[in-house]
Amino acid sequence: MDKEREMMMLCLLLAAICSPVLSESWKATVVKNLDVLVSSCVVVPCSFSHPKEKLPTSRLRGIWHRSDKRDEIIYYEDKTRVLENFRGRTQMLGDLGQNNCTLEIVEIKNHDNGPFCFRIELARTETDTETKDKFSFVEDCVELNMLPGPPKPKLVHLQTGTEGHPYIVTCSVTHTCPSHPPTLTWSRSTRDGLIEDHREIHSGFWETQSILTFIPEVKDDHSEITCTAEFHKQQTSSATMKVYVKRSENYNHIIIPAVVGVATAVIFGVFCIFMVKKYKSRIAELQNQEGTMWNRLSRLSRRNRV
Ligand SMILES: *[C@@H]1O[C@H](CO)[C@@H](O)[C@H](O)[C@H]1NC(C)=O
Repeated sequence: MDKEREMMMLCLLLAAICSPVLSESWKATVVKNLDVLVSSCVVVPCSFSHPKEKLPTSRLRGIWHRSDKRDEIIYYEDKTRVLENFRGRTQMLGDLGQNNCTLEIVEIKNHDNGPFCFRIELARTETDTETKDKFSFVEDCVELNMLPGPPKPKLVHLQTGTEGHPYIVTCSVTHTCPSHPPTLTWSRSTRDGLIEDHREIHSGFWETQSILTFIPEVKDDHSEITCTAEFHKQQTSSATMKVYVKRSENYNHIIIPAVVGVATAVIFGVFCIFMVKKYKSRIAELQNQEGTMWNRLSRLSRRNRV
């Protein structure tokens, strides 16, 4: 009983040691599904590993074929072996020497659904057409789903902008054709900047993004902004949003009338004081004159009486 247990432990230990070696077999990693746009292109990410020592690129032959039929080749170095329908439309973007089997298909047609699988052959010599090792990664194939039309861009923005403060709108669209990415354009021109970005969100799916920044004015309230995505071969789609702008939070509408009111009052007050002073001295002058006139008159009457 103890012996049996020991044996089992030994076996488990051996398996643990051996498994990393065994797992180092021919293996490919291909994205399973991609959404593609007819007449656009698709880049299928693919990588592989193998148990052999580093293989020279010149002896490697990469093949992409229809999953059910190995002889229906859609990509091969020797173009004459490629299905007429795919000839000139497929290209190996990856470097096989770097274990990269990334495939590009351009001018996508309605019936390019696949599934397409990667297969690799190792030639005996560089010029040899006969091959020594062959391996098909029939388990790792890609299926292409045809989109009914170009995907709509997505707009992200603030609910309401503020007059005089930067307003940011983000427009993004997904695609699977990084060699001819869609271009994004705006219905509104801007002096305040446009940021463009292009990145892979996850294997095979890309996103093109454009960020519009502008300083809204009150007259922009309720105006519309459209972002248009143009895909390969003039296929377009667009999204529109409405801008709402609120007045900036300042107290000018209270402060300015108040300042004007106070200033008017002060000026009026100064004017009044000035006028009162002026009239007071004038009255005093008149009273003086009156006095002298009276004196003169009384002197005259006295003289007449004499
Ligand atoms: C494989 O090749 C493609 C095309 O050159 C490249 O974009 C991609 O990054 C490569 N993948 C890896 C894992 O190096």
